[in-house]
Amino acid sequence: METTLSDREAEARRAYDAVAETYATTVPALFAQDVCGRAMIAAFAELVVAGGGGPVADLGCGPGHVTAHLRGLGVPVFGVDISPATVSAARRAHPELRFEVGTLTTLDAADGALGGVLSWWSLLHTPRAERPAVFAEWHRALAPGGHALLGFHVGAGQSRVRGAYGHDGVDYTIELIQPEEVAAELAAAGFVRQALMRLPGTRREQACLLVRKA
Ligand SMILES: C[S@@+](CC[C@H](N)C(=O)[O-])C[C@H]1O[C@@H](n2cnc3c(N)ncnc32)[C@H](O)[C@@H]1O
Repeated sequence: METTLSDREAEARRAYDAVAETYATTVPALFAQDVCGRAMIAAFAELVVAGGGGPVADLGCGPGHVTAHLRGLGVPVFGVDISPATVSAARRAHPELRFEVGTLTTLDAADGALGGVLSWWSLLHTPRAERPAVFAEWHRALAPGGHALLGFHVGAGQSRVRGAYGHDGVDYTIELIQPEEVAAELAAAGFVRQALMRLPGTRREQACLLVRKA
């Protein structure tokens, strides 16, 4: 599904189109070492299956390694990413899975059709003021009782990244997120908090927040 992109969405697309190949050859190995993150994803998968196993949308799926991991846990899943080059890399790496170009706010899913939404380090390009629209879209697409799992960098304000994934010419802004603040935004959108995990991370603190549509 194609829509007009905001400035920050366009910036994210440019950046990840540029780094798609190096991202695909470096980050999946880091995920393989992320024992705590994968534990949260395992809990999310178990809850989705127990809730009927409706499909999960992996939003900002990158090269598809987390999407494939979820499929391995028995969850029907498809990936969505704003970067066409990243979606091409995901399709090449995991031809058995479905990956589409799209955004966090334009889910190609009927109302209540999804069993889960995963946003694994993909909300970091969305300005705070635009998060309510993202959460409203997830709420629309999720079935009652459906779960959403978010992974993000903890902090306040923004950080400008200059050079990423082996590309000096790439730069973009990321949002640092306060867990309590985003939990309150999700509550306002109709989600109930289920679990919050905080991790020291290597360069900055990280958090995983699990919520359920009331
Ligand atoms: C840091 S990467 C995370 C990728 C993957 N989830 C992972 O864990 O490796 C962020 C991803 O989100 C995508 N992205 C950023 N903003 C997006 C948006 N508004 N809608 C959809 N995808 C987005 C980027 O293209 C990129 O692939």
